[in-house]
Formats: sequence, C-alpha cells, structure tokens
Amino acid sequence: MKDPAKLRLKPNLQGYAELRKKFKWSDAEKMVDWFPGGKINAGYNVIDRHAKGPRRNKIALIYDDGEGNATKLTFQQLFEMSNKFANVLKKLGVKRQDRVFFFLQRSPELYSGFVGAIKYGAIASPMFPAFGPDAIKDRLLDSGAVVLVTDSVLKKRVYEVKDQLPELKHMIIVGQDVAPNEVSWEKEMASASAMFETVPMDPEEFMYMLYTSGTTGKPKGVVHAHKDIVECHLSTYWVLDVHEDDVYWCTADLGWVTGVVYGVLGPWSNGTTQVGLGGRFEPERWYKTIQAYKVTVWYTAPTAVRMLMAKGDDLPKKFELSSLRANYSVGEPLNPEGVKWAMDVFDNKPFHDTWWQTETGSILITNFPEMPIKPGSMGKPLPGIEAAIIDEAGKVLEQGEEGNLAIKPGWPSMMRQIWKNPAKYNEYFRNGWYYTGDTAQIDKDGYFWYVGRADDVIKTAGERVGPFEVESALIEHPAVAEAGVIGKPDQLRGNIIKAFIVLTPGYTDSPQLREDIQKFVKNKLAGHAYPREIEIMQKLPKTRSGKIVRRLLRAKELGLPLGDTSTLED
Ligand code: WT7
Repeated sequence: MKDPAKLRLKPNLQGYAELRKKFKWSDAEKMVDWFPGGKINAGYNVIDRHAKGPRRNKIALIYDDGEGNATKLTFQQLFEMSNKFANVLKKLGVKRQDRVFFFLQRSPELYSGFVGAIKYGAIASPMFPAFGPDAIKDRLLDSGAVVLVTDSVLKKRVYEVKDQLPELKHMIIVGQDVAPNEVSWEKEMASASAMFETVPMDPEEFMYMLYTSGTTGKPKGVVHAHKDIVECHLSTYWVLDVHEDDVYWCTADLGWVTGVVYGVLGPWSNGTTQVGLGGRFEPERWYKTIQAYKVTVWYTAPTAVRMLMAKGDDLPKKFELSSLRANYSVGEPLNPEGVKWAMDVFDNKPFHDTWWQTETGSILITNFPEMPIKPGSMGKPLPGIEAAIIDEAGKVLEQGEEGNLAIKPGWPSMMRQIWKNPAKYNEYFRNGWYYTGDTAQIDKDGYFWYVGRADDVIKTAGERVGPFEVESALIEHPAVAEAGVIGKPDQLRGNIIKAFIVLTPGYTDSPQLREDIQKFVKNKLAGHAYPREIEIMQKLPKTRSGKIVRRLLRAKELGLPLGDTSTLED
C-alpha cells in the first residue's frame, strides 16, 4: 500500500480509473513534436527539441565505462554528435530506410550513432555485443544491412561471416585498428559537419528494428515506426514517472528492446538525465553506480534482482542508496520475494513489475506509481490499452480463468512488420486480437498475473531464446545427431537452457565432450544462448512426421503428465 502523503513526488499519472475512461491517443500525440504536414522524427523528439530549448545544457547521458570513469554529455553535445553521424551516413550514400546496424559495447558512440541513424531516416538496429558469428550473420543477412558500426575488437567476429553478406557495403570502425577497406569513425566524425536537418518522416516509416526469437525458425526482425515515440514518451512519463530532476538508470543493453525504448527513446524524449553503465554485471559496481550518480529511478530485470539478493543484505548497507525513489523490473516474472526484499534494503522502495515485449514496443501492463503493488502481479493495462484473457477461439474469459494474454491491436508502438515475413506477422493476429504468446489471468481487482509462455520460447535470465536456434547450432557439432531444447526452471535465472541430445554413432559421452558442445554453441550464437545442462538420450520423442516434441521433453524433465501421445512415432 502506498501512502500518497509519503511519496516524495506526486506521480505523473493521477486517477487511473478516470483516465482509462477519458484518455485518447490523440492526447498523447500532443506530448511530442511534429513537423508540418503531419511528419515526425523520433530522433528529433529524443535529442533535437531539447538541444533547441531550455534543456540545451542539461546532462542527457552519464556514461560510466564500468570502472567509475564518467563521461557526461549534454543534449547539445548529443545533438552535435548525432548530426555528425547523420552526415557520415550521407557521405557514404546511405539511402532513406536503409538498415544501419550497430555491433558495439555500450558507449557514447553507440548512443549518438543510434540516434543519428534515426534522425537520418535510416532503420537503426543495435546488436547485443555478446553475439557470435551465426547470430550476427542471421541478422545482417536477413535485414540486408548496408552499414555496420563496430569496433576493432568485435569486428573479428563479423569477419568470420563477412563473405556471406553481399549487401553489407560499409564497416565503420570505432577505435584505432582500421583497415583500408573500412571507414574510420574517428576520422569521419572529426571532419563531419555538426549541422544536420533531421529528416521529417511519415509516422509509419520505420525507425528501428530488433531481432527476437520465436518457437520455430530463425530470429525474426521486429520493425518499429517513428510514431512509436508517442507511446515511448507517454509510458516513460506515466510508468517510470520521470520528473525534471531525476537521474534515471536502465540497466538493459541497447541490443534488447528495453535498452532501446527505456535506455534511449523514452527517457530522452522526456528530457531526462540518464546513466549508461558499461562493463559486466557485478553487484558492488551496481550499488556503487546508484550511489555515485544519486540514481532516483531504476529499471532492471528479475534475474539481476535475484543475483543481488543472493549476494546478501550486508552489501547494499555499505552504500548510500537513499537517492532511489522508485524501482522497476521487466523481462520475466518478478518473484514476490524480490519486491519485498527491495522494501527492506532500499528503504521502502519496492520493485514495480512491468510487462511488455519486443513486439509491443512499450510497456502495456504495469504496477503504477500511484497504486498499491500486488507482489507477483504484472499490474494493470495502461489507459489506452485493452488487454484480456482469451481462449483459442477469441472468447474473452472470466476473471480468474487462465488463458492467452491478448491485446486489442492499434496502440501506437505496436510492431509494424516482421521484416520480409508477412506470414509470421499475421500469425500474431487472430479473432481481432494480438496474441502475445503468454498465458495469464486477471484477479478481482483487475490485476494481471503471469502464468507462462503458450509456446516453446525460453526466457533465460530475462533474455529470449528460441529452442530452434539452439537445436540448429547443436546439430552442427559433429558429435550431435539430434537435439531437443527446452527451458528448465531455475532459481536464479528463471529458466536455463537444457538440451536433450542423441550422439552420433562412434561418440561416447564424457564431461569433456559436453563442455566442448557447450562451447561450440556459445561461440556460434551468444554467451547466454547455450545449454547449461545436457542430457544424452538414446532417442528423442518425435511425431510421425519427424518433429521433435519438446512438450514431452518438458514433461519428462518436470515430472508432468505426458498428455496426448497419439500422434507420436512410437
Ligand atoms: C516476453 C517478451 C520487453 C522487455 C524485455 C522482454 C516475458 C516480459 C514480463 C513480466 C513475466 C514477462 C514474457 C514476454 N516477460 N515482461 N513482467 N512478467 N514475463 O522482451 O525479449 O520481447 O520478451 O518476456 O514472456 O512475452 P522480449
């Protein structure tokens, strides 16, 4: 329960029930700036409008390299840097809506390049720096990326697959080691003009894309339009509840949608000062970051919360964390213990759970700052969002019944496309609803409770992994004849990836071999997308048409009933 008199600041969203009745999206459209003729550019809203106004010299980014060395950049400085990068793209002959990808550690270059590409009218896409060659290739090939911005270290992984990327024309390299056929970031930025007229875009033209995993096939390119900024802005204002003097910190990497929407777009559209922390997760460093920059609003993920909890309560006590006003979490179910733990260690500042997806483009369900929190619940839909629990036929279910979590299409930040794959896009929409792929239920007070995934997608440490991608990587290893992959519940990570494999005749199981297989997948896909557990099987359960039935592997692992097995091979 929250006592309004004890809240440090009045929440931006007041009177949820009333607002749900009268809110119209056209109200939110007034919170962002438009060009004449109904044109818009998200990048203009994120940086330019502040650089042209009273927030010009306000700090936009406090970038900490992970060692405590901070670089502070104002909106004016980011305006100039993003202008320069837009001019670099112009000089290279990049066309409107060309795909400009980034494969960089979190850095001022990544932030300014990403915004610059959007201002230029390109489709921007940051990739997670832990990706291996296969993950890189899948994304650059499918998107037909024309430009890749990377650095002297990460580019090595790109060169392993570069000859398979005919459309990739330019590699821009941050750092000193630049080959003759590459473009030097430093050199080009140094000579580029700091003046650039941000391109007015049709609201439906594309702004950014991010690849995410489904049950089947390769990762799919989720495409978002410039108009998204309306909802990125509003949700940051209502949910993360940023106020003028806040110091906000989102811990997500820009390679994930949380990092893009709530680590760049939403907070900066609101003119908020934000922290960006480089380096790896380390509890001490995280607490230090809150203390050093006096973070007031913090957005992180359940696995991180559980890892902090596991380090014990004495560690946070060594730091001055009283600057925190509100904490938020996203990505997987947030345990009630996590919410309560935060109350203890952060002086009565609980975590607010938020629910959304790469496809939804912004938070759709949340525990609002003005409302009581129900620990374990995702909260309530934002005004303007109609969410329901429905069955396969589209029937809306009663309160308390479990079913598919679905949203009425038409919210501004909804994905516009799955890149070059209309069939995949259409799969989401049935019976007049957007099916999220999650199952949930609603309680008597209208709070939504997460139940699970309706499909085989694995959420491990908050990151989304498709079993098919891992299976495909596994069977490329000579010792693996067949593979079936599932998520196995795990205390710390929510789920871990578990692989059931059949060995190629001639190979025998050994700890060495298992380790070798794990390393193989890690190198191909990404540091987080490998099976932490491997079980050797004589045979995998298959349908008569030869498809591996992951449902049965899961049932075996968790000791659940096997259900209908009539379509199985034997
Ligand atoms: C999936 C989307 C968009 C933020 C990062 C994840 C799961 C997300 C919650 C939550 C339980 C959650 C769902 C969802 N998820 N938030 N609060 N409680 N589960 O984006 O990688 O596109 O994954 O993450 O399964 O469908 P994503």
